[in-house]
Amino acid sequence: MKKTLGTLLAAALLAVLSFSAKAQTKVPDDINALLSKHTCLACHNADTRLVGPAYKDVAKKKYTNAQIVELIYEPKPEHWPGYPPMAPMKQVPKEDALKIAGWINSLAGGASKAPAKKPASKKS
Ligand code: HEC
Repeated sequence: MKKTLGTLLAAALLAVLSFSAKAQTKVPDDINALLSKHTCLACHNADTRLVGPAYKDVAKKKYTNAQIVELIYEPKPEHWPGYPPMAPMKQVPKEDALKIAGWINSLAGGASKAPAKKPASKKS
């Protein structure tokens, strides 16, 4: 009996470990709380496509924070062919939307990071 429980626990631990190894982006607690409160997490994940695009992929669009806030209030489904349209989320307070926008842009490829383009030819 004890042995079975131990095996089960070990398996569960392994599953958790391999899951967290796959989830690359650690969402800060305050942002996670906002995303969860405003139900964004039902359709979005930082790294992978769910109903909506991964926030990492949104970051690649290089919107400004203000543009992202606008898109939360008034989504433009034509930006994401192949996805269902997102419902406007006008109930999200601007302050919260801005925090979320800033975080999205902090993800790989975001506007606040140095552009990942080919390096400009520097002085040799
Ligand atoms: C019911 C599912 C759903 C929920 C809830 C949802 N989204 Fe979306 N979101 C989508 C889909 C689908 C798209 C892609 C199609 C579109 O833009 O309309 C999208 C696109 C986006 C984009 C990209 C906009 C663009 O034009 O590039 C951002 C940013 C975004 N969502 C943020 C949020 C935030 C922040 C929340 C929570 C306040 C949220 N979403 C809640 C489904 C959802």
